[in-house]
Amino acid sequence: MKKTSLLLLAGLFQLQVQAQTPEAKMNTFITKLMGQMTIDEKIGQLNLVTPGGFTATGATVSQNVEANIKAGKVGGLFGIYDPTLVRKPQELAVKNSRLHIPLLFGLDVIHGHKTSFPIPLGISSTWDLERIEKSARIAATEATADGLNWVFSPMVDIARDPRWGRISESSGEDPYLGSLIAKAMIRGYQGTSFKETNTVLACVKHFALYGAAEAGRDYNTVDMSRIKMFEYYLPPYKAAIDAGVGSVMTSFNEIDAVPATANKWLVTDLLRNQWGFKGLVVTDYTAINEMIAHGLGDLKQVSALALKAGTDMDMVGEGFLTTLKQSLNEGKITQKEIDQACRRILEAKYKLGLFDDPYRYLDESRPAKEILTPENRAFARDLAARSHVLLKNSNQTLPLKKSGSIALIGPLADDRKNMLGTWNIAGDWKKAVTVAEGIKNVAGSDVKINYAKGANFTTDTLLIQRLNAQNGLVDVDPRSPEVMIEEAVKVARQSDVIVAVVGEAQEMSGEASSRSDIGIPENQKDLLKALKKTGKPLVLVLMSGRPLTLTWENDNADAMLEAWFGGSESGNAIADVLFGNYNPAGKLTATFPRNVGQIPIYYNHKNTGRPYEGVLLDKFKSRYLDVPNDPLFPFGYGLSYTTFSYSEVKLSQTTLKGNQTLQASVTVKNTGKYTGEEVVQLYISDPVASVTRSVKDLKGFQKISLKPGESKEVTFRITPEQLKFYTTDLKYDWEGGEFSIQIGTNSSDVQTAKVQWAK
Ligand code: NOJ
Repeated sequence: MKKTSLLLLAGLFQLQVQAQTPEAKMNTFITKLMGQMTIDEKIGQLNLVTPGGFTATGATVSQNVEANIKAGKVGGLFGIYDPTLVRKPQELAVKNSRLHIPLLFGLDVIHGHKTSFPIPLGISSTWDLERIEKSARIAATEATADGLNWVFSPMVDIARDPRWGRISESSGEDPYLGSLIAKAMIRGYQGTSFKETNTVLACVKHFALYGAAEAGRDYNTVDMSRIKMFEYYLPPYKAAIDAGVGSVMTSFNEIDAVPATANKWLVTDLLRNQWGFKGLVVTDYTAINEMIAHGLGDLKQVSALALKAGTDMDMVGEGFLTTLKQSLNEGKITQKEIDQACRRILEAKYKLGLFDDPYRYLDESRPAKEILTPENRAFARDLAARSHVLLKNSNQTLPLKKSGSIALIGPLADDRKNMLGTWNIAGDWKKAVTVAEGIKNVAGSDVKINYAKGANFTTDTLLIQRLNAQNGLVDVDPRSPEVMIEEAVKVARQSDVIVAVVGEAQEMSGEASSRSDIGIPENQKDLLKALKKTGKPLVLVLMSGRPLTLTWENDNADAMLEAWFGGSESGNAIADVLFGNYNPAGKLTATFPRNVGQIPIYYNHKNTGRPYEGVLLDKFKSRYLDVPNDPLFPFGYGLSYTTFSYSEVKLSQTTLKGNQTLQASVTVKNTGKYTGEEVVQLYISDPVASVTRSVKDLKGFQKISLKPGESKEVTFRITPEQLKFYTTDLKYDWEGGEFSIQIGTNSSDVQTAKVQWAK
């Protein structure tokens, strides 16, 4: 045979093989379907609606949902769950719309679905990637049992400002840890394929930089250099893309003076072209419409901008639905741009198997078998205990004895409504365990509990109204603060130890819940001051959706346990930790400042040209006159009921070249009385480079468990990959020189060794 005909044959064969690949099959199917679609039907697919009467997570809900579904003007719904409820709109779409295209069903499944896990900031404090993945796996199973095929999670925004209420929903301030958590969550949600009906389409959000809102005020402007975004803020989104996340949600904020939703550089150049993302991009809630207030034009104009930037689906705003056709007729957008967006949405539906069986997630027998099961609750209890961070424990005040008497005091001590934390859309607070119940369950009959509420969350009535505007979770005891404190003091005097459960109401963090004062509300502090005066040992159990300022508390309490909002099993988990059934091992993933004036404060800061070296009278140094530079509790910090000692760092060699691997080891010993876990953390510092570098960056960690007296050698393998950073021209590379390898128990307490590493 001639060479040309051989080539032809080989080409034909290749074509045939290609035709059989799943992707080629999908493309053929969608091309055929799109060939039958009118322009209105294509634009209809770009429309994501939230019907009234269910869970509203924004200021507006969608109108005419039923009629629009029938007319093929809806691509997906969110806010509605339960297979029986979801079936109705799915049937409307499949039976009544002209082309029978099934709908996507999304929801904010953020830290569990109906079995609620700790808030994400708490989950991140476990530093336990396997369990984090499992939490997402359980959430996906429950969500899909409830009729959903899409979850608006993980939220991977880096947050360095605890005033921002949505820090609660993040994994804190570190890009390395944040990236690993992003990947674990996506593995948990999406599994390895959508073949199983207990996997779900994940949606990484909020792309991008949403956590850097100026002054920590939600929705505020973001302004950031490219080098900073690439080095610190973008890695977790990128990690999510690399992990194969199926969808991306744009953020509300602007980037380089262009809101994310209309930011072509962000959505097309970076996300799609540079990072190779192939999935669907959905806006955040009415983010297109909000660009009118940003000052980018009228609805028609901003909708066209969003589409042209590469955004596919319009959440709630219906700017796409109502204006794109006219923009097309006027030549402001192209048919190709509409087709592209429509195709990506249809692809998501295809990958989820909805064209094969639109009802595959609608098995009415699943909820009873798969949601809020005893196993899921047991996992939630364990995860919540693991999320707790022991901030202080003088004189081994904790763990508590399972005998004697305890004064259980505080607005959160016997509260059920505030246990789940922000963004628990499907969670039912009535199914949460209170701290009082948990203590009764765990302490046994030899412990006498003396309870007094002691204080309301706050005495600020306007704040209470605002907190109660949506869910009404803040109950108010009508007694005066004085009477409540008096009762609490009396109860404290009759008891051996005080456990005060204080902090924020759940609605004090989360979306649109920024605070300029991040302390415990003043009236709760008054309660603590009165309790302190009794001279009884004072244990604080803190609930909050953010790092708090705790200077007075740290000076005066004997022990402090940060319990975040622990989810369905909050109370049991807290009791498990208080009584030592579980030895706390959580480590902070966001810095706790001394006061709000220190914010933004984070461990991986730059050095400045005039670093303060602790000499008080050195005038021209980078420091405050009224407060130290360092935080109250640094990133990575967290105590245990036992103690650990660290040896010096042992290096496999001190001079290296090129792609060699360095091994850095420490021996960690449990020097206390309890078996305990420790997160051994590796930081690297690059003191001389072509750009200024942060003082250190987290580059590895290992969580180990040690019995009393036991030692373990922990070894980190370090390659040039961990030395890389972004240069001024945004190249990701490393430069030779000296590096300091730091291993320790938190970002401020490390053992250090130096290496010379030539390129
Ligand atoms: C607005 C929030 O910013 C986003 O995180 C959420 O997914 C949507 N609302 C939908 O509820």
